[in-house]
Amino acid sequence: VFAHIVQAPEDPILGVTVAYNKDPSPVKLNLGVGAYRTEEGKPLVLNVVRQAEQLLVNDSSRVKEYLPIVGLADFNKLSAKLILGADSPAVQDNRVTTVQCLSGTGSLRVGAEFLARHYHERTIYIPVPTWGNHPKVFTLAGLSVKSYRYYDPTTRGLNFQGLLEDLQSAPSGAIVLLHACAHNPTGVDPTPQQWEQIRQLMRSKALLPLFDSAYQGFASGSLDADAQSVRMFVADGGECLVAQSYAKNMGLYGERVGALSIVCRAADVAGRVESQLKLVIRPMYSNPPIHGASIVATILKDRNMFHEWTLELKAMADRIISMRQQLFDALRARGTPGDWSHIIKQIGMFTFTGLNSEQVTFMRKEYHIYMTSDGRISMAGLSSRTVPHLTDAIHAAVTK
Ligand code: LMR
Repeated sequence: VFAHIVQAPEDPILGVTVAYNKDPSPVKLNLGVGAYRTEEGKPLVLNVVRQAEQLLVNDSSRVKEYLPIVGLADFNKLSAKLILGADSPAVQDNRVTTVQCLSGTGSLRVGAEFLARHYHERTIYIPVPTWGNHPKVFTLAGLSVKSYRYYDPTTRGLNFQGLLEDLQSAPSGAIVLLHACAHNPTGVDPTPQQWEQIRQLMRSKALLPLFDSAYQGFASGSLDADAQSVRMFVADGGECLVAQSYAKNMGLYGERVGALSIVCRAADVAGRVESQLKLVIRPMYSNPPIHGASIVATILKDRNMFHEWTLELKAMADRIISMRQQLFDALRARGTPGDWSHIIKQIGMFTFTGLNSEQVTFMRKEYHIYMTSDGRISMAGLSSRTVPHLTDAIHAAVTK
């Protein structure tokens, strides 16, 4: 009965790791998936995460009972405060419902399923380009996906005019996906002034913001500064949704820990929204896993651990910034044709290099360097040791 099934293609991002793992070359380099690596090219478990795990292991009162459908209460409260601000009036007024979900993707999916069931406008506008999984998550949840202009390849910056025009012509009430900071894959964010204009336009047209916050702390190195876009929308008293991931900023990739917050206009509405979120979650995965959320809650509620986390996060962000500078300097020193200043202007984990898919394939075949076919490289996967190899490959790709 399954003989007719055709082979599905690999995932455009996670499939890069599959191909990389099969490559026997000793010089191979994986710049595909956005996962932090040390200068030695190794995955990093933060010290503060190890400390939190130790505390959890030593606490013999801890059991492995099911969490509630909405997850760990402490984790939810602390996550809302992390993204909305410790003194957020929306949190204080109990207008926010937060549910623990399976990292950013799971949070987006639960939010999208909720909107498809209960929100009057089932169209979502996503930026071009965006993270490759976004359209699939929203389509499968039952939303109709449309796009708005975002990136201008000629300037390698924001197409702000195009963005405003497209949101202006969106139907009133449409959902708009916004990357809270460190836009994936372009590394190009609106300025605070541009965010304010986007907010005004969206509110005037009653467009509903759905934020994807996967990189809080990675854009500027400051958790508060990276949450400003979201906080601007919450400060005006209107509704919004936020999907948070702790994959990158706490390095908890495989723990699948994240949160969906829905900011409502009144506490009673938030309560009813939560009751419906439970009906979305229960038949999907029943309730979320306990370990990752316990790590996060342990860190967020302890002043010293929280402080240590911010230092470790800043160190990761700084190492990425230093990689940008090193790659830019190396390409300049090499005399590689082209203006590579976007490497140091873009922010977050990724550089959207401008290399085309043919050049990407060439670099994979000849240099064993792996990246997504749109030319995105994860700067977090690069180190001082591998910058020269990447420089050689880019130079050869653009001069061949
Ligand atoms: C990425 O864009 O590389 C990350 O968000 C990892 C993923 O799941 O695609």
